[in-house]
Amino acid sequence: MLRRVAAQASANYRRLLAAPSSSSPGIYNPFRQCSTSTPSSSSHSHTPNSTCVEHLEDSPCTPSPSTKISIDRSGLYKPPEHSHGPTSDSELVKNLKGIIKFRGGPITVAEYMEEVLTNPKAGFYINRDVFGAQGDFITSPEVSQMFGEMISVWVMCAWEQMGRPEKVNLVELGPGRGTLLADLLRGVSKFKNFTESVHIHMVECSPVLRKLQYQTLKCEGEDGEKQIVSTMTGSPVSWHATMEEVPTGLPTIIVAHEFYDALPVHQFQRASHGWHEKMIDVDENSSFHFVLSPRPTPATLYLIKRCKWAETEEIAKLSQIEICPRAMDLTQTIAKRIGSDGGAALIIDYGVNGIVSDSLQAIRKHKFVNILDNPGSADLSAYVDFTAIRHSAEEISENVTVHGPITQSQLLGSLGINFRVEALLENCTDEQADSLRTGYWRLVGEGEAPFWEGPDEQTPIGMGTRYLAMAIVNKEMGVPVPFQ
Ligand SMILES: C[S@@+](CC[C@H](N)C(=O)[O-])C[C@H]1O[C@@H](n2cnc3c(N)ncnc32)[C@H](O)[C@@H]1O
Repeated sequence: MLRRVAAQASANYRRLLAAPSSSSPGIYNPFRQCSTSTPSSSSHSHTPNSTCVEHLEDSPCTPSPSTKISIDRSGLYKPPEHSHGPTSDSELVKNLKGIIKFRGGPITVAEYMEEVLTNPKAGFYINRDVFGAQGDFITSPEVSQMFGEMISVWVMCAWEQMGRPEKVNLVELGPGRGTLLADLLRGVSKFKNFTESVHIHMVECSPVLRKLQYQTLKCEGEDGEKQIVSTMTGSPVSWHATMEEVPTGLPTIIVAHEFYDALPVHQFQRASHGWHEKMIDVDENSSFHFVLSPRPTPATLYLIKRCKWAETEEIAKLSQIEICPRAMDLTQTIAKRIGSDGGAALIIDYGVNGIVSDSLQAIRKHKFVNILDNPGSADLSAYVDFTAIRHSAEEISENVTVHGPITQSQLLGSLGINFRVEALLENCTDEQADSLRTGYWRLVGEGEAPFWEGPDEQTPIGMGTRYLAMAIVNKEMGVPVPFQ
């Protein structure tokens, strides 16, 4: 029954989307560049002698000779001489070195990543717009309006499957420029029952991006005076620093697109006596470098937990493991919320359905750079471990079910992107048609676009199979569209 309702809702809604939009040109700038990035894949072939859980020993460790990693010397720690004399270090670098110096030892990769991305004064995301051809990377909502429109189909279907609640929270985690939500609201603006039920909540750490989101959603009103409203649908909009701050008590629909990949990861490396956390220290030349912790660190508990969700053979193949405790904790917050208040979450990101080995990458101006090079000037991101998301959700709440992952191509295809692109192509200029085809390929294609005749360096690369989608929903909702 629920499936039929959802299928009907989806079909009706697709028909609406198929109508060319009269209020907006409907087609975006053709030069939204898609990142062609893939993280450095791990090529380690170290043969382990048992699982990681058994190898968490407090003993000296020997890193693989091919790596430039040395042992943590915190036992003999002498702070490097970097506090005197002229320096060209950025604020963020000074801050990182200050933490290492005053702690008297190295920091975890996760601490480094968190500072680099979200330090309140100088973090990568904090003071600027990092998206688009002029920025550092590009995301699916910025590639084509069709992405946000398809997510609006998913959100509407979820709302239908939830029994059309009169009040619902719509949360976006890490909304970037606000483009996804603006396209989503344009898509649902004709459904008054829905728009009147919705309170939008943006979870965003960056003041600059909050301002951009305010503009993109065509908001009115000032924080603290009266409720801010998006004039696109008349829906109230609130901003929060974390998911925990979003008020409880209402059914909640959550969308997280390229949010999980920005959460800080811990890295572990297998050495002769077991697994050791990779840390970041400052050397005698005042440069950052990696060391291994000689003893178990707090994140080791999460490593043990993650390894319990893996097959012994899966771990046996690895010489590095990356874990994201923040992603595990966030998933539990989401699952608890959905389990008690009702609702659904859609998580879309690049990642794998299994343990992640070594994926942390830095991208500056659309190019890979060393993650320790000029921190704060490049984006840091890591593959999302969808298996860990599934287990984290299932562990915390009996009232939720987890679906997927499916590929982005399957998600968007099932939600009707082919109908949408055809409808838009019927009513556009040649230039807009080229842009639409390119955007479509980037969203659902795999590899290089076969039809491309432009410069090689601008060849559109499909994200259709590199990005995965997973849903966490309240059990009463049934199986969410299109995960049946
Ligand atoms: C990679 S961008 C994705 C933006 C958008 N979802 C898109 O697809 O275009 C990550 C977003 O999450 C925000 N963000 C990153 N870490 C965060 C954190 N710890 N708390 C809140 N927001 C965060 C960033 O400021 C940015 O808006």
